Amino acid sequence: MEFDTLIKTRYSVRAYKADPVPYKDLLAVLEAARLAPTACNLQAFRLVVIHTQGREEELRRIYPTEWFVQPPIVIAACGLPDENWSRRDGRNYVDVDTAIVMDHLILAAANRGLGTCWIGAFDPGAAREVLDLPPEVEPIALTPLGYPADSPPEKKRKSLDELISYERYGTGD
Ligand SMILES: Cc1cc2nc3c(=O)[nH]c(=O)nc-3n(C[C@H](O)[C@H](O)[C@H](O)COP(=O)(O)O)c2cc1C
Repeated sequence: MEFDTLIKTRYSVRAYKADPVPYKDLLAVLEAARLAPTACNLQAFRLVVIHTQGREEELRRIYPTEWFVQPPIVIAACGLPDENWSRRDGRNYVDVDTAIVMDHLILAAANRGLGTCWIGAFDPGAAREVLDLPPEVEPIALTPLGYPADSPPEKKRKSLDELISYERYGTGD
């Protein structure tokens, strides 16, 4: 898909078909995530690929909605804060890096007609338990991965005027 079209096409899918995701497409979205930039190229993240079939009840403990477990796959994006880069003032960039990784994955999925939805409002304790995460691995975001069974709603966004300021740009300074 042409990139500008892809950006406009992606949306949060909240109803999925149970159809399988071809392995080559799963690999392609994971490869897009692998190629994401990270601070100092530390790559302090891990992705957990979860097959939903037969585990629906357990997985719903992490995010209790029906559509979360409708597709065949859920992916958990996790960060390793102790291995991540921190700014001089101590600010750790683990959330930033993991979000970029997840965004690469999500856009690559949309490019293949696959639906995703960022999930931040999950139960981290349940995620730790169900995914058996060691203490140093922090679950940051999840997404279902599968074919959409809904249609994109109209995109509602603030105007550029509300979101952007051009400091000194075009003022002759
Ligand atoms: C960091 C982050 C966390 C989110 N968490 C959730 C969530 O827990 N549940 C949900 O249904 N949508 C979640 N969303 C999806 C947003 O609601 C959605 O992206 C936004 O409304 C814009 O809609 P669109 O993705 O269809 O363009 C999250 C999005 C982001 C970026």
